[in-house]
Amino acid sequence: MLPGFCLRGYSQKKSIDQRVDSLMKLMTLEEKAGQLNQYSGKEVTGPVTGRQTYLLNDIKAGLVGSMLNVRGVKDTREIQAAALQSRLKIPLLFSLDVIHGYKTIFPIPLAEAASWDLEAIRLSAHIAAKEAAASGLHWTFAPMVDIGRDPRWGRVMEGAGEDPFLGSKIAVARVKGFQGEELGGTDAVMACAKHFAAYGAAMAGRDYNAVDMSSQLLWETYLPPFKAAADAGVATFMNSFNTLNGIPATGNSYLQRDILKDAWKYKGFVVSDWGSIGEMIPWGYANDLNDAALKAINAGSDMDMESEAYKKNLVQLVKENKVDVKLIDDAVRRILYKKFELGLFDDPYRFSDYKREQKVMNDPQSRLIARDVAQRSVVLLKNPDNILPLAKTTQTIAVIGPLGKSKRDLEGSWIPQSDTILVTTLFDGLSRKISKSSKLLYAKGCNINDDKDSDFAEAVETAKKADIVIMALGESWDMSGEAKSRTDIHLPGKQEALFEAIRATGKPVVVVMMAGRPLIFDKIADHASAILYAWWLGAEAGNAIANVVFGDYNPSGKLPLTFPRSVGQIPLSYSYYNTGRPVKNLKDIKYKSAYIDSPNGPRYAFGFGLSYTSFDYSDLSLSKSSIKGNESSDLSFTLKNTGKFAGEEVVQLYLQDVVSSVVRPVKELKDFQKIALKPGESRTIRFTIDKEKLSFFNRSLQWGAEPGSFKLMIGAASDDIRLEKTFELGL
Ligand code: GLC
Repeated sequence: MLPGFCLRGYSQKKSIDQRVDSLMKLMTLEEKAGQLNQYSGKEVTGPVTGRQTYLLNDIKAGLVGSMLNVRGVKDTREIQAAALQSRLKIPLLFSLDVIHGYKTIFPIPLAEAASWDLEAIRLSAHIAAKEAAASGLHWTFAPMVDIGRDPRWGRVMEGAGEDPFLGSKIAVARVKGFQGEELGGTDAVMACAKHFAAYGAAMAGRDYNAVDMSSQLLWETYLPPFKAAADAGVATFMNSFNTLNGIPATGNSYLQRDILKDAWKYKGFVVSDWGSIGEMIPWGYANDLNDAALKAINAGSDMDMESEAYKKNLVQLVKENKVDVKLIDDAVRRILYKKFELGLFDDPYRFSDYKREQKVMNDPQSRLIARDVAQRSVVLLKNPDNILPLAKTTQTIAVIGPLGKSKRDLEGSWIPQSDTILVTTLFDGLSRKISKSSKLLYAKGCNINDDKDSDFAEAVETAKKADIVIMALGESWDMSGEAKSRTDIHLPGKQEALFEAIRATGKPVVVVMMAGRPLIFDKIADHASAILYAWWLGAEAGNAIANVVFGDYNPSGKLPLTFPRSVGQIPLSYSYYNTGRPVKNLKDIKYKSAYIDSPNGPRYAFGFGLSYTSFDYSDLSLSKSSIKGNESSDLSFTLKNTGKFAGEEVVQLYLQDVVSSVVRPVKELKDFQKIALKPGESRTIRFTIDKEKLSFFNRSLQWGAEPGSFKLMIGAASDDIRLEKTFELGL
């Protein structure tokens, strides 16, 4: 690195530290406490805390550090101008839930996770950031990196599924997408790793519920994506509504200080989730708002979203020597540092530019990128007779089902600036692809979630006129997401009955399932001619699904989480423990770890997804069959496209530590690659096996590998292992 660059980099970094120091010297205790306040704009994304939606006077008095739910150049300029009337003119941070798109709505995060395509995921976040930053926003409350293994929990929709390795890789891709390589560009925003921590393990899958888990499970499964985000430089963290082993995350110094700020040396700041500081009162952890403020600031919650605990109590708590002013200073420093990094002190309006807002919001390229990300997210679950892809010259196709012409339902629940009217429906997407001589019929058949079946007859009649039926089934946009836990994750309403009625016509039925979570749909799984899981794919949903249906894109998605056969199996993961009484075959389950009314295995496994082509795995070899110390071994195998379509395969490396000081799962994902091959093309695929891949947290929670045997597995899915080899780690 050139000295000049070093000095400039050093002097610039030093100048931010200095600039923070000199500003803090001027600040009163009231102004410092003010920086730790975040209020919502007029829209609310949580229980309204019983006061006006935002307090302009506080802003003018310099007693607010950030606003959420304010967006657009006009509003952000107006409110920023109010903040600049304050004594020290400290600019506000504007934040919003830009989870999967701002104006151009991309597939929901769980759908994008099904693409296993890290570049597509990064690009999606980058476009979302570009649009958000052009609307005066500095900060998005994303990525949500919570591991989700319970599809009763509606927020699996916002995450990257069940696996810590895949979840960590996706967390990094999203942080880089939102933030760019370094903060300060006006085409990037601060990201926020949320919800810290273990929120996805809420008891019984009920949102906002308690979490009890071993340190082992916390460290090996739920923390890794947060650590990956921190190491990737995520600017902020958001804590979570749940307790962890009896202590609310917001008041949990083990999480926010011992782990995040001490062990991980995290330099960004932590914002509470909406009102979560005040919620320590109903949790029975704080006597009142004063006590809640004390516990939250001591535990490392730097900014208070919407509970007003800090606004109303911090100054007094410091004056009464109940809170050390050093904690306030540390929190203020972390927040001011980000405001300097974003260049807001140099130009508080630099993100609020009318011209850029116009230009960025209407970039047609963004929709094309959204279509590509969407088609990469579709998972082909079934196609035994290769009915898909359909010919565009198919004479008559009937689209039947409540999501066939739906727009809003395909967007998911976080759609800040979407033009829903511009969403491409499945019917529209298909109609654009079929030949001029083909006909596309439509019947809704039933609603998404009620008992009405009076429209079945019309749907059956429509199906009888067609050569093939495409059924558009699933959830409405408000059936998954925050505060959308379900005790029953069956396909809702009369939709499966509608499928049965259509199947009875004898026509081939392709089912396109659109939902925010795994659903249970046994009859469809058993009897549909083909099934595409299309999640909620956003603005370009109809075009993306049509590309897949007609083979203009060969589906390459793989499930990022397990689809259970029943709710009774939950929590269910591919990374299960063998137990002392494993089931070896379904006929012999007496005195085995099994159910008497269901197989143990899922309906569809983690990592599963079919293609219109086929892939052959062969010639697995290791440069060394054992390693010791810091040695590594090169694993290689040959992948061949043995079908007649070009396609992409996600090859998955799993590993089992056969005997260890802490029982290990039967397999854990340790690496993957998404490989594109033409028909007949072969390629040598390589992975490196090193100690890091063999490591785990032992009973003292130390990360490390233990000598012994390991099983290396190469799979097309977690339940479809194609090649395997044993491997030794020596002393
Ligand atoms: C919500 C969500 C959180 C979101 C925040 C602000 O309650 O839990 O994910 O970022 O409030 O809208």
